Amino acid sequence: MKQNIKTVALSLVCVLGGISLSNAQKAPQLGKASLDEVIAAMTAEEKAELLIGPGMPGYAGLVPLEGEPDVRVLGAAGGNAGIERLGIPETVFADGPAGLRIQPKRENDPNTYYATAFPVGTSLASSWNTQLIEEVGKAMGEEVKEYGVDVLLAPALNIHRNPLNGRNFEYYSEDPLVAGKIASAYVRGIQSHDVGTSVKHFAANNQESNRLSVNAHVSERAMREIYLRGFEIAIKEAKPWTIMTAYNKIDGTYASASNDLLKTVLREEWGYEGLVMTDWFGGYPGFETITDTTRSSDVVAQLEAGNDLMMPGTVAQKNALIKALKDGSIDEAAVNASLKRILNYILKTPTVAKYKYSDKPDLKAHAEVTRNAATEGMVLLKNEGDVLPYTNKSGTLAVFGDTSYDFIAGGTGSGDVNEAYSVSLIEGLTGAGYQIDTDLQSAYVPFVKEMTAKEMKRREENGGLLADVQRIPEMPLDKDLLAKKAKASEVAVITIGRNAGEQHDRKVSNDFYLGQDEVKMINTVSEAFHAEGKKVIVILNIGGVIETASWKDKVDAILLAWQAGQEGGNSVADVFSGVKNPSGKLTMTFPVDYNNHPSAANFPGFPAHDPKEVFYEEGIYVGYRYFNTFGVKPSYEFGFGQSYTTFEYADLKLSTTRFTDELEVSVKVTNTGAVAGKEVVQVYVAAPAQLADKPSEELKAFGKTEVLEPGQSETLSFKLTAKDLASFIDAQSAWVAEKGTYTVKIGASSLDIQLKEDFTIAEDITAEKVNNAFDLDAEMETLKN
Ligand code: BGC
Repeated sequence: MKQNIKTVALSLVCVLGGISLSNAQKAPQLGKASLDEVIAAMTAEEKAELLIGPGMPGYAGLVPLEGEPDVRVLGAAGGNAGIERLGIPETVFADGPAGLRIQPKRENDPNTYYATAFPVGTSLASSWNTQLIEEVGKAMGEEVKEYGVDVLLAPALNIHRNPLNGRNFEYYSEDPLVAGKIASAYVRGIQSHDVGTSVKHFAANNQESNRLSVNAHVSERAMREIYLRGFEIAIKEAKPWTIMTAYNKIDGTYASASNDLLKTVLREEWGYEGLVMTDWFGGYPGFETITDTTRSSDVVAQLEAGNDLMMPGTVAQKNALIKALKDGSIDEAAVNASLKRILNYILKTPTVAKYKYSDKPDLKAHAEVTRNAATEGMVLLKNEGDVLPYTNKSGTLAVFGDTSYDFIAGGTGSGDVNEAYSVSLIEGLTGAGYQIDTDLQSAYVPFVKEMTAKEMKRREENGGLLADVQRIPEMPLDKDLLAKKAKASEVAVITIGRNAGEQHDRKVSNDFYLGQDEVKMINTVSEAFHAEGKKVIVILNIGGVIETASWKDKVDAILLAWQAGQEGGNSVADVFSGVKNPSGKLTMTFPVDYNNHPSAANFPGFPAHDPKEVFYEEGIYVGYRYFNTFGVKPSYEFGFGQSYTTFEYADLKLSTTRFTDELEVSVKVTNTGAVAGKEVVQVYVAAPAQLADKPSEELKAFGKTEVLEPGQSETLSFKLTAKDLASFIDAQSAWVAEKGTYTVKIGASSLDIQLKEDFTIAEDITAEKVNNAFDLDAEMETLKN
């Protein structure tokens, strides 16, 4: 309607100006005329209209503001504005990593628009199963397409630099290979439906504290080997339609305005031709509202660096751009290149194809997909005396922990999904035929309800969607009641829950470390049950790493279930009962102590209460690269995870012992236990370190077997290229696989090396020469081995 008024007004101007109406109608149309012709026909205002997003009409269920376009998909985070005169339609972007985030209900509309809440990023990655992730991506992609959305604002693959990052749950790993391969599979799955993804947040967005402006000081080597490598893999392998730049600065420049990041690395070295958009309000330290005309990001710098689209777009940004276009202070060629990339993107969308979306994705089928995916991401951390699988359904289970009764499906913020339902642990276990102690249940249910209502009210009053998340206190347990329950029931199940989300990092005490109430619960329940010779099983319903070393000896089994999506309770029950054998392994280190992480000295930066600067002094020694190289023993190491069966590794073969350009590694894995299961196989390489210091070993490939029946074997093979073996050598601005002896280490985890074999490289191989980039803007010593 608003557009029509615009067109009428325009036609009137044309007639009055002596131009015939038919001429105005002949403006070049997208899809018919060439892109150059369409761009040449644009006024400065129209260019700004396309390069600056239209705001966030309808986000969070809001009615569009005056002057904002009507909303096609309520709750979507944004999109590009349309220009009817040139036949350019608006398209729709919606969050996020765990599934499509849109409003499930619309005014005067009896239909619902629920989406499936899939497992969070840490859970998906812990499966190490790229085929499975592609299937999850396909299911998500169908929901994106059938709800009329063009781009899903996901996957998110920033590195877990530190366990306290509030958004680690959305991300995959402390290792860039895992992050990159999981993200590739995810993108492939979604884009198989001809809808887009937005790989985010590019790059070095590793904390939420002061995320809009914190300056991350990172060495070029750490950028290239750790913080960019996952993006490089995903972008080169899966060709995401779009990329979202990070909020933070890197070495003094906003990521969204960084020539090094966008021009040199992304476009020039990696050859990326797709659309780059900012994160929401990215590129300046603060904003008032979309209609605020006073504060704008430096749109000239952003566009000239190749950040094509400013999201969600503000009036101030539009004004600044129109001014620059009119006074010639912006490089016209850069502007036109960005316009072209936006138009090229639009041409690929289902919107342009006039796809008739059904608003009825197959939610039932996707519930099965998420139920299954969640079980593959579960990590069995401890299973003394084979407590699990727990098959005794005749006695009762005494279930403790608030979270058991209000299981957490996923994190908060833009990574949250509006699912139709979510299955609690109690519902899952009951559904699987277990009998739950009803006294405990009737005490917990009202307690949890009351405490949760209080917490929701607190959040509402403290920023709503972006408020920090606080855990509700554990229900106090009476000693006599515990003694009674230990006698009457067969086993104790305790759930420890954690949640987090955008804008806030997690805290060291009462979050990374258990709270006193939780310690007390574990202590008293364990004492009471062990006194009766009964076992205690802990379920971790968490999104990121917590401390485990101080309490793990007190319990018999620990199942890391993660935040397992809307079918979480059923997924846990499948593993608990042995219907599914857990096959997940950790994609990050669980340290003994928070301060064991070298980044702890530098997180979230300085000054601590309001960090403006963060120094990545640990360099490339992130996660296991640090723990293994410096001999720091973790509670559970990178790559660790148990199974209900056992596996034997044999027949490690290298295609050559003298590497020239490619190496094939193969290894045979046999299920030597009594039940069927899958095994994650990790290929680490230790490299010579003359040209630069190196970690004791780095993950270079991984794979997962099919379901192996007892006695069954599978041979997995992996190809390694010179680039895979290379390190970034600063002095040469190149990836070099240096000469010397390398050791291939096949691990069941990063510390559990099963087989080893050496090969050599005769002369240094320059796998790739690159440009100098990311000069430090402040002095910084980085950790060396
Ligand atoms: C988040 C992005 C998200 C965007 C749109 C930002 O706050 O950082 O990950 O895609 O909002 O909701």
